[in-house]
Amino acid sequence: MRSEHEKDLLLKAVDGYKRRLIIVSDDYRILSSSYDEDKDDDDSIVGRFCYEFFYNCSEPCRDCIALKAIRLNKSTIRTDYTGFYHGKKERCRYSYPVMDNGVFRAAVVMDHEEPGIREMEDQLKRSNAFLHNLINSAVDGVIAADMSGKIIIFNEAAAEITGYSVAEAIENLDIRKTYAPGVAEEVMRLLRSEEYGGKGKLKGYRADGMNQEGQVMPISLNAAIVYEEEKEVATIGFFHDMREYLEMQSKLKKTQLQLLQAEKMSSLGKLAAGVAHQLNNPLGGIILFAKLILEDYDLPDGVTDDINRILRDAQRCSDTVKELLEFARQTKRELLPLDINKSISRTLFLLESQTLFHNIVIQCNYDETLPHVPADSQQLNHVLMNIILNAADAMDGAGHLTLTTGRITDEKKIFIEIKDSGSGIPEHVLPHIFEPFFTTKEEGKGTGLGLSMVYGIIENHGGTITAESTVGEGTKFRIELSY
Ligand SMILES: Nc1ncnc2c1ncn2[C@@H]1O[C@H](COP(=O)(O)OP(=O)(O)OP(=O)(O)O)[C@@H](O)[C@H]1O
Ligand SMILES: [Mg+2]
Repeated sequence: MRSEHEKDLLLKAVDGYKRRLIIVSDDYRILSSSYDEDKDDDDSIVGRFCYEFFYNCSEPCRDCIALKAIRLNKSTIRTDYTGFYHGKKERCRYSYPVMDNGVFRAAVVMDHEEPGIREMEDQLKRSNAFLHNLINSAVDGVIAADMSGKIIIFNEAAAEITGYSVAEAIENLDIRKTYAPGVAEEVMRLLRSEEYGGKGKLKGYRADGMNQEGQVMPISLNAAIVYEEEKEVATIGFFHDMREYLEMQSKLKKTQLQLLQAEKMSSLGKLAAGVAHQLNNPLGGIILFAKLILEDYDLPDGVTDDINRILRDAQRCSDTVKELLEFARQTKRELLPLDINKSISRTLFLLESQTLFHNIVIQCNYDETLPHVPADSQQLNHVLMNIILNAADAMDGAGHLTLTTGRITDEKKIFIEIKDSGSGIPEHVLPHIFEPFFTTKEEGKGTGLGLSMVYGIIENHGGTITAESTVGEGTKFRIELSY
């Protein structure tokens, strides 16, 4: 039994509890209340219905915690509750039954706050918001998914790269759909292996992603598996689109190759020019003196034939030297406004009648609005003639030859494309076709000077020439000239 002093102390302890503590019967009547000297309602509280006194209601609250404690016969707790005093949100309400010899007597109900929880919650909210901002402002796409493939995190960069909106990705996008078919499975396999940055990690992996429109795009991916006590619970990937980078890289490579080619051509050109000069004088001498012998002496027939042979061959040498000089830009050129379409049709007119072209279907797609281009008409004819003759050779006299002209918008340039349906040029041969003396034709059929001369002329006009080819399908030459 408690002494009077003990009881007095207990009562003071209850009153000292700075929040309201009430004892209610199972029909919601307030049987007793802690005494709060700051409130002046204490005299009137006993005997009133708790719902009426505290909440001004005419019937019990729907989820009355006291009733629950009574029913379950054990202490009950509830968070986020409107406290006994109107308008003030309490964090926690606590109720427990008061028993007397196993018989229910009443329920105690009290409010109390748990400042620790609130602070922790605020802190959690703040750090959540910070993390959210962090992920969203990342330049890389960030996607996290649970192990079923359902997306949990999808930042704005990911939305931009893939074309899905953040909302639709979170709602019903499967992570597998952001990869090309089969790639997600491969990524998971690599993630689980030790070889690519350690188990559960994948670093700088080049994968094929897929956007909303089903287009496959190259991506660079850093990914990880998120573990909780050794168990895989999620995956997270940081990635960026590689298209622009790869495009730049290939442009750079092309430019490097072009530079290399130009350099090679220029040194070969100088060499050729030097040789041509050296040959020009003695050749002139041979031709001159051969002619003099023919004129000055009465020679037997056989000798005249031989000397004529010397003259013919010397003349051939002289022609080759001329082409070499042309290639090396040693001949004069005259740039005048030229109608490219007309140049093409003139060249075709000359060639079409030849037997080599009888079974070749020629199609011309002229841009009739093509501006005149400053060019040397004779040299350009030479260019066209060489390319077209090569095409006819490659088609072995039968096939399709297509000539197209057009403007390059925004660049003050025109282009000429000459496409054949011939044998095509193997990949390892293509880089050499503009080199002087490079030929795949049998001896006597080609000197290998045609395209090198073409290259020299076009370069001399400030233009460019490129070739694309597929073996078995044909070859396309493209010339670009400024106007
Ligand atoms: N349209 C084409 N289709 C396939 N191969 C081609 C084509 N044009 C050029 N080539 C290849 O490029 C090589 C070089 O061509 P180029 O015109 O410089 O010399 P060529 O035709 O062999 O001799 P020529 O000096 O008599 O013109 C050819 O031998 C051929 O292998
Ligand atoms: Mg040729």
